[in-house]
Amino acid sequence: MTYIYTLPKTTSFTGTGVEGYSFGPLRQKDLDVCLIESVKGHDTFMVSKKIVRTYYVLSGSGFFTIDDQRYEVSPGMLVEIPPKVEFSYSGKMTLLGFARPRWFRGNDRHTKWNPDVTGRDAAFLPGRESWLTRLVRITIAGKSPARAFLRLNRELWIHLPSRLKQLSWARSYGSFVHALARKEGVRAQAFSTYFLRNRPELELIRRLLDPRRNGDSLSVAVLGCSLGAEAYTIAWRIRSARPDLKLTLNAIDISRHAVEFARRGVYSIKESELADTDIFHRMTAEEKREFFETDGQSATVKSCIKEGITWNVGDVGEPELIDTLGPQDMVVASNFLCHMVPIEAERCLRNISRLVRPGGYLFVSGIDLDVRTKVARDSGWKPVQELLEEIHEGDPVMKAHWPWHYGGLEPLDKKRRYWRIRYAAAFQIPAGTAAPHIQPENELAMANSRR
Ligand SMILES: C[S@@+](CC[C@H](N)C(=O)[O-])C[C@H]1O[C@@H](n2cnc3c(N)ncnc32)[C@H](O)[C@@H]1O
Repeated sequence: MTYIYTLPKTTSFTGTGVEGYSFGPLRQKDLDVCLIESVKGHDTFMVSKKIVRTYYVLSGSGFFTIDDQRYEVSPGMLVEIPPKVEFSYSGKMTLLGFARPRWFRGNDRHTKWNPDVTGRDAAFLPGRESWLTRLVRITIAGKSPARAFLRLNRELWIHLPSRLKQLSWARSYGSFVHALARKEGVRAQAFSTYFLRNRPELELIRRLLDPRRNGDSLSVAVLGCSLGAEAYTIAWRIRSARPDLKLTLNAIDISRHAVEFARRGVYSIKESELADTDIFHRMTAEEKREFFETDGQSATVKSCIKEGITWNVGDVGEPELIDTLGPQDMVVASNFLCHMVPIEAERCLRNISRLVRPGGYLFVSGIDLDVRTKVARDSGWKPVQELLEEIHEGDPVMKAHWPWHYGGLEPLDKKRRYWRIRYAAAFQIPAGTAAPHIQPENELAMANSRR
């Protein structure tokens, strides 16, 4: 019997200014308890249909706006919000949140943006829904047929022989299932990461260093760095290929827990503390020796690899990102944009691209391919053709989730229009690519895609 619950390994919900970790499921079937890290606040105002929400302020300060009244809060205070009352909260604080009954799809009606978080003082307008969106919202006796259909397809796809998966009808069917999964899947961030996650990508990074002269400076940003494996891997690859370069590497993640963990660089050999995955899985014994000092229990990243890495907590969707990190020669954004609804991912990607120095490189993978293709084409990024197919195939986890999971990676298809852009994960950013401000029609789409 479970009596004790620890902080969950992955976030259960995220927004522009907030991330939350749900405990449980608890044995009390009508109760949700979660820890909420509010960096800026909740991005919308909402009205709950049935759920009573209670928040206990653990640390920090801010205010709740409830029924148009502002209430300042500080540690030790409890806020109770009954159904049918409009509210939001703003500020940098840690909250313990209780929802009774448990959250269910359809409980929340978002009424307007929270300007303290989004900078937008506008109504949260629901747009027209596509037939696929309407399909995923259907429930029969409280159950979602779309979810059951996706579960069934997962089993079917796993057991379908590989040669059949290559046939054009199977690909088309897979694309339909994936479109449904992208609409249905409740997006949640995770900390899953690996050392040496995508070897062809590391090889491309190495090759792109070739034109640099002895002693040159090189600035690299690793965004959504999670527990640090990716940042350490890239620092190690660059240093072993070009020890002469003056490397500065900025790693950033929205989660303070992840950044503190990454900064320490101490990993349990037996089990991964925060992620579900075996973080060492892709390393050879030789590479492990090069990377870590070990004591039988844990592996500590060697100080020569740690050197020159700055760890930051922050939201890479924020326009201030460029002021915080400054222009970079290479920016790496892997495996977090797929956990955002497409319109948020698009906005975030445009913001991230502003970090890249003209002529520099952006590596972006683990993202909705329609979003990446759109932004790359709109902005005139040059897809790097070298190792394009190898990098696309380089991370087996993302491939294995297609088509039944929203984050699954579509198999490379050379018959697709613009395939050289669609499947490229590395781009050279030409001068003068400014991130355009989000358009009002995108706000409509955002409202739509969240529902
Ligand atoms: C699945 S991990 C990916 C880790 C690593 N990039 C990799 O590919 O192995 C996603 C990470 O992105 C972080 N993240 C999500 N949204 C973010 C945001 N807006 N700004 C910064 N980090 C973010 C999450 O906290 C999580 O640690």
